[in-house]
Amino acid sequence: MTPLPAAAPRVVVLTGAGISAESGVPTFRDSGGLWEGHRVEDVATPEGFAHDPDAVLRFYDARRRAAASALPNAAHRALARLEGALGASVLVVTQNVDDLHERAGSRNLVHMHGELRRALCVACDARPRWSADLADRPPCPVCGQRMLRPDVVWFGEMPYDLDRIENAVVACDVFVSIGTSGAVYPAAGYVALAAAFGARTVELNLVPSDAVVPFDESRAGRATDIVPAWVDEMVGRS
Ligand code: APR
Repeated sequence: MTPLPAAAPRVVVLTGAGISAESGVPTFRDSGGLWEGHRVEDVATPEGFAHDPDAVLRFYDARRRAAASALPNAAHRALARLEGALGASVLVVTQNVDDLHERAGSRNLVHMHGELRRALCVACDARPRWSADLADRPPCPVCGQRMLRPDVVWFGEMPYDLDRIENAVVACDVFVSIGTSGAVYPAAGYVALAAAFGARTVELNLVPSDAVVPFDESRAGRATDIVPAWVDEMVGRS
């Protein structure tokens, strides 16, 4: 096991839908997951949006309302505690579009797949904070045009902040993956990148994911149980 440096270890935490599951936010690929009830092509691609924008806007309006009524759980809070203890050397990279990490207190955070609490104007590229519905086609607060869509990265679109994420992954001492199936790239490739640059890699997931490069350590269980325990160890060690 790679000993941790004396100074605060640089930690990259990748999270997926599994960390929000116990807050009542459905995952995508588990039984009862979002992709069981909806065809990805219909609601998570630019083509699906072009084909039936009203259905797509209603789909994300419902997700935005559901996420707004959800509460952060012990796993979200534990990661905020880790940041509190280790400071800026902790970066949370989330694939999730809910704002439960922020509401739990995480600040050093990247939403690589966008946010339900933002809209994206197709006309002027503005990304205003947004909490209301979009299906009634409200005007963009910047350009006034009624061409707002959810600021969620769809399949075939480029995720956000890739340079910042990759720079943090190649420089980290510990890479931990929480509540993700490892089915979607580029996120699924970060464990291999981190390992290639000498980081210790840890997976905290309900069931071990089928990651291409095995993790140094894999713990199975519910996020609200295994994440606080792991954070206690990290904080205890630092
Ligand atoms: N605690 C820990 N892990 C959990 C829990 C839980 N309570 N519940 C489910 N999981 C795990 C599942 O075992 C699974 O490995 O979380 C993972 C969820 O996987 P997905 O549903 O595939 O979600 P995610 O990996 O975040 O999806 C990645 O795919 O659909 C796109 O853009 C979307 O960001 C998303 C990306």
